[in-house]
Amino acid sequence: MKRLQGKSALVTGSARGIGRSFAQAYINEGATVAIADINLERAQATADELGPNAYAVEMDVTDQPSIDKAIAAVIEQTGKLDILINNAALFDLAPIVDITRDSFERLFSINVAGTLFTLQAAARQMIRQGHGGKIINMASQAGRRGEALVGVYCATKAAVISLTQSAGLGLIKHGINVNAIAPGVVDGEHWDGVDAMFAEFENRPLGEKKRLVGQEVPFGRMGTAEDLTGMAIFLASSESEYVVAQTYNVDGGNWMS
Ligand SMILES: NC(=O)c1ccc[n+]([C@@H]2O[C@H](COP(=O)([O-])OP(=O)(O)OC[C@H]3O[C@@H](n4cnc5c(N)ncnc54)[C@H](O)[C@@H]3O)[C@@H](O)[C@H]2O)c1
Repeated sequence: MKRLQGKSALVTGSARGIGRSFAQAYINEGATVAIADINLERAQATADELGPNAYAVEMDVTDQPSIDKAIAAVIEQTGKLDILINNAALFDLAPIVDITRDSFERLFSINVAGTLFTLQAAARQMIRQGHGGKIINMASQAGRRGEALVGVYCATKAAVISLTQSAGLGLIKHGINVNAIAPGVVDGEHWDGVDAMFAEFENRPLGEKKRLVGQEVPFGRMGTAEDLTGMAIFLASSESEYVVAQTYNVDGGNWMS
């Protein structure tokens, strides 16, 4: 028996990377998935690749009308919303003395406000439906402690962990489980960009930062998007009904809490 048979899921930022892998994993488990992304062209290409149980939705998580339209598109397509993954996020890197207001506002707008108001819109829909739901927020090991060059991103992910706790406590009375996943370092296009930023700020050759962070993982390598899908399926399935307001580290042993 597939664990998400007949479920309707919305995954933000799923045109590529971790979100795309989550969408693929949910489809394999029997769900229909909205590939919701600010990059519609890439979302459409991803949906085409994932097959008939995927469909593309244009969505900017910083824009309330866009959030509302995306939820409406899911209802139009499948008649309901059972699962939301708040996955869209942006990264930036700067020494504390060089952080700009623009970077701060952009990251908080996507990573924190985007997560909260997408979660809110999904929760309202799930409450109207009256049979609960599953909301999964993407946190990070970056939310567990600060980093000298990553102040703003770390702060956004700490906020995601906190919002997961509050929303988890506030929504469980409606049968809505809110939990989060905190990955460590996950290889892919995102980390290619992070590596290039570290190369500039720490004066390293390209690829060195990735090699170093991979070596430091107790498991012995960087993670892959597929390393996270087991937790994402569990948190979306009926097996996690009694799991409330938690953030799970899936990071090869990088962080213990
Ligand atoms: N890759 C890692 O090492 C890592 C580690 C810890 C946590 N995470 C978290 O996992 C999640 C996915 O990471 P990833 O590596 O796949 O990232 P990614 O950069 O590869 O993908 C992010 C996606 O979000 C989309 N997006 C950006 N802004 C958006 C907006 N305003 N509205 C809607 N979509 C938008 C992008 O177009 C892109 O498709 C993020 O929340 C990230 O912070 C990643």
